[in-house]
Amino acid sequence: MTFLSKSEAETENIGLNLANSLLNKEQIVLLYGDLGTGKTTLIRGICKGFNCKSTVKSPSFTIVNEYECDTRIVHIDLYRITSIEDFENTGLFDIINDESSLILIEWAENLPIEIRSEKVIKIFLSYKNFDQREIKINENI
Ligand SMILES: Nc1ncnc2c1ncn2[C@@H]1O[C@H](COP(=O)(O)OP(=O)(O)OP(=O)(O)O)[C@@H](O)[C@H]1O
Ligand SMILES: [Mg+2]
Repeated sequence: MTFLSKSEAETENIGLNLANSLLNKEQIVLLYGDLGTGKTTLIRGICKGFNCKSTVKSPSFTIVNEYECDTRIVHIDLYRITSIEDFENTGLFDIINDESSLILIEWAENLPIEIRSEKVIKIFLSYKNFDQREIKINENI
């Protein structure tokens, strides 16, 4: 499934539609894509779809954010996680095994392990031009 988004609002809306169709609390969503391709924006839309009231921001420094929504959402940013030791020390092994939450992971390129599970959904974001982004679900670029 491929979408072409022409604005930040459109990306957020694609996230909202994914929340209402494809996603449920059992899933682990891996988001791939360069700086500024819209990973956080898409996640903001997903969270909106689950009626989250909290502010959704990239947890670049805190690594993990949790939001209480219709289902609990765990938002992880692996930008600064560069080794399996970092991953382990941050408690991420336990966090990604938490089956009661929907898990959304930015910078999945940095995952030090492969998560082999039918619960995984992969989303690839890329630049088309200044305000256009291609968003591919469950496909390699
Ligand atoms: N079509 C679009 N979809 C999403 N964002 C867009 C689009 N066009 C322009 N933008 C801009 O691109 C930026 C996307 O930022 P966002 O934080 O969502 O990216 P990110 O992939 O999470 O970045 P990072 O790797 O730093 O976490 C915003 O400044 C937004 O206004
Ligand atoms: Mg981000």
